[in-house]
Amino acid sequence: METSSSVHYDYLRQLVFGLSRNVLDPSRDYLFETRLTRLMRNQGMNHLGELVQHLRMKKNPALERAIADAMTINETSFFRDTRPFELLRGELLPRLIETRKHTRGLRFWSAACSTGQEAYSLAMLMREHFSLLTNWNIRIEGTDFCAEVVERAQSGCYHRIEINRGLPARHVVRFFDHQGEDWVVKPELRQMCNFRQANLCASPLPFNRSEDRFDVIFLRNVMLYFAQDTRKALLAGIHRLLAPDGILFLGSSEQPADPSIWTSVLAGGTCYFKPRQPS
Ligand SMILES: C[S@@+](CC[C@H](N)C(=O)[O-])C[C@H]1O[C@@H](n2cnc3c(N)ncnc32)[C@H](O)[C@@H]1O
Repeated sequence: METSSSVHYDYLRQLVFGLSRNVLDPSRDYLFETRLTRLMRNQGMNHLGELVQHLRMKKNPALERAIADAMTINETSFFRDTRPFELLRGELLPRLIETRKHTRGLRFWSAACSTGQEAYSLAMLMREHFSLLTNWNIRIEGTDFCAEVVERAQSGCYHRIEINRGLPARHVVRFFDHQGEDWVVKPELRQMCNFRQANLCASPLPFNRSEDRFDVIFLRNVMLYFAQDTRKALLAGIHRLLAPDGILFLGSSEQPADPSIWTSVLAGGTCYFKPRQPS
């Protein structure tokens, strides 16, 4: 028999899916309690039943949005999984730089950037190893569904614990200013990055083909929250936004939903994807 709490969970799971396309497994329903506590308290509510009843009675897009935001998993770190960054530095970027020497521009997209560590890692990589490209236009775009993490990315402000995860000491000294318990990215990195809120599952994607296409896209550790048809549609859109010789990195446990439009390349202990051109 269906209990009233399972009805509440079904409602909340549907709500999250409708907005962010994140598929939440019923085995993790307990997360609703923990993640929505603060939000409920701010609304003067004591339990999920009250929240769901309120939403059923009256449409409240801002509250629905806040629930979907709160249920996103924002785990990230600087230079996460290191190998993609190593491969870019040693092999892929030198090749791209050679082919872009006349246009002198490189565009990166950290799609699902969370609090920004991935985007700033790319900026540090460029500054440290490709510092001679001073008169190049190097742009790093970061987008995420969750407004709160995008704000944090924009602030470029990280707690000591976040800094200690994956960031070599020389990078901390060179690229961050110390402010109490926090470290703030220096303007030279901040200026290379642009962050904004965007839903990867809404149509159209936040960029379009009339702009320059991306040379490198990081779409890591987000597709695992999506259903297969969502992944397929997203990767078709990503394919259109990537330069013909561009590079796509997925999370280490992720694969393109439609292998027919991607060539996978194993290198440097990791895997990246190149768009296969229509024949
Ligand atoms: C686990 S983090 C991954 C962060 C980073 N890419 C990394 O690998 O370290 C997943 C991010 O995906 C975002 N996300 C979830 N659904 C999304 C959607 N529909 N559109 C855009 N971002 C989404 C979440 O807000 C979260 O910040």
